[in-house]
Amino acid sequence: MKNILKLSAIAALLATGLQADVFETEHAKGDSTNGAQVWADVCMRCHNQREPAALSKRAWKYSMQHMRVRAGLTGQETRDILAFILESKTIEDAK
Ligand code: HEC
Repeated sequence: MKNILKLSAIAALLATGLQADVFETEHAKGDSTNGAQVWADVCMRCHNQREPAALSKRAWKYSMQHMRVRAGLTGQETRDILAFILESKTIEDAK
């Protein structure tokens, strides 16, 4: 019984850790000005540019983790690009 409690405590800690959003840590905000630059330089190397309206905010957060790996971006570059993309969304498509 004790082991089960320990295991579920560990599982809960792990789940919290995984949910910790790399894009929302206090000391590592995205810089959208740099993000715009990196976005223009990098994101068309492999495919057409995806407009900010192409995905929901939530989907962009996932996709940027995916593209971070594909494009070999640093964590800061990833946050910068995401900041730029989310700021570029219009009110109508700001889901
Ligand atoms: C090294 C090549 C490469 C670069 C650079 C790249 N992408 Fe991609 N991207 C892909 C591939 C390949 C796919 C298709 C999905 C797959 O097969 O993984 C894709 C798919 C996507 C998708 C569709 C959703 C998804 O996550 O699959 C979006 C949105 C996207 N890229 C945005 C971007 C943005 C923004 C950048 C710049 C940060 C970028 N990509 C840079 C290769 C790249």
